Amino acid sequence: MSDTPKPLRLPDLEAKKKRGEKIAMLTAYDATMAYLLDSAGIDVLLVGDSLGMVVLGEDNTLSVTMDDIVRHTRAVRRGAKRAIVVADMPFLSYQASISEAVRNAGRLLQEGQATAIKMEGGEPAVPTVARLVSIGIPVMGHLGLMPQSVHQQGGFRRQAKKEDEQKKLTDDAMALEQAGAFAIVLECVPDTLARDVSAHLTIPTFGIGSGPYCDGQVLVSYDFLGLTRGPAPPFAKKYASLGESIVSAAKTYVQEVKSGQFPIASEPAANA
Ligand code: KIV
Repeated sequence: MSDTPKPLRLPDLEAKKKRGEKIAMLTAYDATMAYLLDSAGIDVLLVGDSLGMVVLGEDNTLSVTMDDIVRHTRAVRRGAKRAIVVADMPFLSYQASISEAVRNAGRLLQEGQATAIKMEGGEPAVPTVARLVSIGIPVMGHLGLMPQSVHQQGGFRRQAKKEDEQKKLTDDAMALEQAGAFAIVLECVPDTLARDVSAHLTIPTFGIGSGPYCDGQVLVSYDFLGLTRGPAPPFAKKYASLGESIVSAAKTYVQEVKSGQFPIASEPAANA
């Protein structure tokens, strides 16, 4: 019998929602991390444009390019055996025209070998979502806090606090489902709104900073592993302190190199 796990398929996600089985998604940006998270049973690996912040050290996601996401998606695909790989459409890769969106999303499937793409936006994004889905490109939506609108939204802030904003987000979610999206990320919205939207939809929702009632959860892997430079978002539970372990290991290495404790000679010195 082979040890290779059976790869998950997109319809498995909706089936999990129907069964009331929660779905776990994490971001990944390279083959090694993808391999490790995949081995742990993660259902979906998202090559998020958070890459720009946690890997490339930028203040926001706006400078991430198509070439960045293609390259990292290909790496994650190489590392993942079971998980579904979703690649984020970076800023300006889908907003200018539907035909550009088709070409760029196509690159993520063709060159990056993603299973699906994710894009931010409500009603204005619906025609693009419908077109992509019509040509066989699966789309995950993203509502609430949309990091590509960081300036317009006034920073990385909680969204949809007011009743009219909640109604709009609910309408946007239903329009995305109707356009054929297979799932929607709900970022930093009130728990009760995330619960009601999840109950309205047939497709699964993935919450991030949106409480416990979504069909699945997503976290940025650097946050959940304790690798983030500076403070992580308050909702991001830290499951490990790898940043501290790395600093401690590096300090030991520096000290051993300087003191001559490392490396140990593999053969006696010629004049010994
Ligand atoms: O880019 C990203 O990592 C994301 C997640 C926060 C959902 O969009």
